[in-house]
Amino acid sequence: MASESNEPVLGSLYHVEMTDHTWHMAEIIQKRENMDTKRMEYYVHYKEFNRRMDEWVGSERISLDEGPLEEAPKEDNLLDSLNGRERTVTRNIKRRHDEINHIQKTFDEMDPTTAALEKEHEALTKIKYIDKIHIGKYEIDTWYFSPYPEEYGKVPKLWICEYCLKYMQYEKTYVRHMSECSWRQPPGKEIYRKGNISMFELDGRDHKIYCQNLCLLAKLFLDHKTLFFDVEPFWFYVFTEVDREGCHIVGYFSKEKESIECNNVACILTLPPYQRKGYGKFLIAFSYELSKLEECVGSPEKPLSDLGKLSYRSYWTWVLLDILKNASGYVSIKDLSATTSISQDDVLSTLQALNMVKYWKGQHVICVTPKVVEEHMKSAQYRKPLLTVDTDFLRWAPPYKKLKTTKRH
Ligand code: ACO
Ligand code: ZN
Repeated sequence: MASESNEPVLGSLYHVEMTDHTWHMAEIIQKRENMDTKRMEYYVHYKEFNRRMDEWVGSERISLDEGPLEEAPKEDNLLDSLNGRERTVTRNIKRRHDEINHIQKTFDEMDPTTAALEKEHEALTKIKYIDKIHIGKYEIDTWYFSPYPEEYGKVPKLWICEYCLKYMQYEKTYVRHMSECSWRQPPGKEIYRKGNISMFELDGRDHKIYCQNLCLLAKLFLDHKTLFFDVEPFWFYVFTEVDREGCHIVGYFSKEKESIECNNVACILTLPPYQRKGYGKFLIAFSYELSKLEECVGSPEKPLSDLGKLSYRSYWTWVLLDILKNASGYVSIKDLSATTSISQDDVLSTLQALNMVKYWKGQHVICVTPKVVEEHMKSAQYRKPLLTVDTDFLRWAPPYKKLKTTKRH
């Protein structure tokens, strides 16, 4: 076993054991003494993985005898030896593979401005000091850095009230708060209730502290996000599960009140204990239902995270195939966009990924037979959502329509 004197060198690469006991190349970023065990721990970033896998590890998980490693050779230029369609298809497969496996783009693969911004972002947010949060009945491992105020930002475990989202450093304070806090649901207006699912709409201007706390909480699971304190220009839609005790937060999305780029979602999150159960696609579907009522098309704010891309792609694919399977005659991208409120670009990219578009006389044309649709519907890309939005239970009108109604009466 490695001794403490044989210490890993900060900034160097080593083979490090992940929690699933596989070994991967990782950079040693920082070290600290664990307050409980009094042993040194090292903050590592696994080179081939998304930064949410970054973690504090003991030296026994670092292959010290092997010593620091040179950087792994770059992937050979397989793509360069291909051309035309083959190349696009390979790229599509590679992109999908990278998304599913959460492989991060390297700086070399980015344009210079993005690369510079990414480097700066990484330098600022390299280390997540808050390892865990305790919220409601869950203890959740965090994924990324979040700018909680200094004294809170460095505790290994942060305690959060699941109703008002107040954050606390100590268990004692938390226990006292939970016995005193009178909140049992998010502030704002309940705009959807079906069964035990309830959605609340909050104006960032009216519920500033709650929305700021929500953003700080969300940032623990979102890599790219700059909005924390300037919440006034946004609406927040909070998804809760209701039981006898109250409305338990599951996730949310935010939306700019006025979006020049026609974004209908700024940020979207399902808290980790609730992920992969269909709530993310429910939130996405909900955002499009609001856009339909506003009679406009929308698109999520870019960049999308790896999980964001997977979820949107899955939602778009399902919605579009569901329409195409019943379509007779000519359907245009414009029609599909108007019916679904999915932007034309997103419709096009989804259909392109399904190989359903041809470029003909300077235009993109949907090229599809019932048989092709049927085949896609049998494939893994087509997943019927587990949870759908029932618009009969939606009590909502766009703000300008609300205004008109008030004026008239
Ligand atoms: N690995 C592989 N696939 C996954 C994973 C995962 N870890 N998580 C979700 N998926 C896939 C699901 O399989 C599903 O696809 P399918 O139905 O075709 O199988 C699809 O993504 C959506 O699954 P849901 O259960 O509906 O979504 P979930 O509740 O897990 O929420 C979300 C998705 C919101 C993206 C969630 O992963 C999350 O909160 N991530 C952290 C924050 C984030 O990245 N948000 C998006 C940023 S982009 C933006 O905000 C505009
Ligand atoms: Zn509270």
